[in-house]
Amino acid sequence: MHLSSPTPFPSQRPRRLRRDAFTRNLVREHRLSPHDFIYPVFVHEGEGRRTPVPSMPGVERLSLDLLLPVAEECVQLGIPCLALFPSIDGALKTPDGKESLNPEGLIPRTIRALKAAFPELGVMTDVALDPYTSHGQDGLVDESGYILNDETVEILVGQALAHAEAGVDMVAPSDMMDGRIGAIRDALEAHGHIHTRIMAYSAKYASAFYGPFRDAVGSAANLGASNKDVYQMDPANTDEALREVALDLAEGADMVMVKPGMPYLDVLRRVKDEFRVPTFAYQVSGEYAMLKAASSNGWLDHDKVMMEALLAFKRAGADGVLTYFALEAARLLQRPRA
Ligand code: PBG
Repeated sequence: MHLSSPTPFPSQRPRRLRRDAFTRNLVREHRLSPHDFIYPVFVHEGEGRRTPVPSMPGVERLSLDLLLPVAEECVQLGIPCLALFPSIDGALKTPDGKESLNPEGLIPRTIRALKAAFPELGVMTDVALDPYTSHGQDGLVDESGYILNDETVEILVGQALAHAEAGVDMVAPSDMMDGRIGAIRDALEAHGHIHTRIMAYSAKYASAFYGPFRDAVGSAANLGASNKDVYQMDPANTDEALREVALDLAEGADMVMVKPGMPYLDVLRRVKDEFRVPTFAYQVSGEYAMLKAASSNGWLDHDKVMMEALLAFKRAGADGVLTYFALEAARLLQRPRA
């Protein structure tokens, strides 16, 4: 017992506010809503075609006809936006990824169909070459194996324009080439697409947590033992993330993103504090796979860890989260509380 203590009682009892649900509800600092989510989906050709992604339990690649009801549920649940990722036929993959420029390609057709059916639902597309290249890299490769920057940016500009012509609401360059945000912004302006929003994958790390995604778009086998270390960021760095965000904002990004999510919450917080701009987190495929695997083994409570992980992004400063849990989490949020 401390003799200098003025009373034998604690002078503050923070537990008072935790005692009942009503006070916990009153003082809660952050809340999740379906409006916080962007739902990434994988599309492929065909009709009535769905193929599961084994490393992402519950995630399937869908043909357009099967995607439409999913989009409808997003509208009903209040999920503002879908993010489209293509799993294209292996025969269309080339070293230069030129199928990414095809105005009649899978993604432009999907954009048009979604915008026609659900004009109020936001549609976002990835701008990057990896689903389209025979080597699985996000850019053109020279003889030495180096990923060329400026030549790649030229193709990315064409890809972004093809998506804009098809009516996409937001493009999200995920390639990490230098100068691509400025080049895409200039091209969008020059072609009259002044409303097309750019969400820049600004602080995108060279992460092993993307493994299941690469299975989903079929780039994993093509990539083989090579990596993306010469363009994606070193997981050891955070000052560099601020520099990347500053560049993307100066070049015309409307929103920025930190990716992966949970292992990089410190980066998210620094970016939000420094720039105070709309900032998003991507809870990536590997994070999803971990939570699914542990909960399907009964080691974690699925719904509780899902909501806790998503809430953590808001607490760390995210305005929204790209998450494969979007539908499940939004359904849970919509359910009337007991
Ligand atoms: C493509 C891209 C990747 C992801 C989003 N866009 C993979 C990569 O960079 O290798 C990863 C998403 C995820 O893991 O969920 N450039």
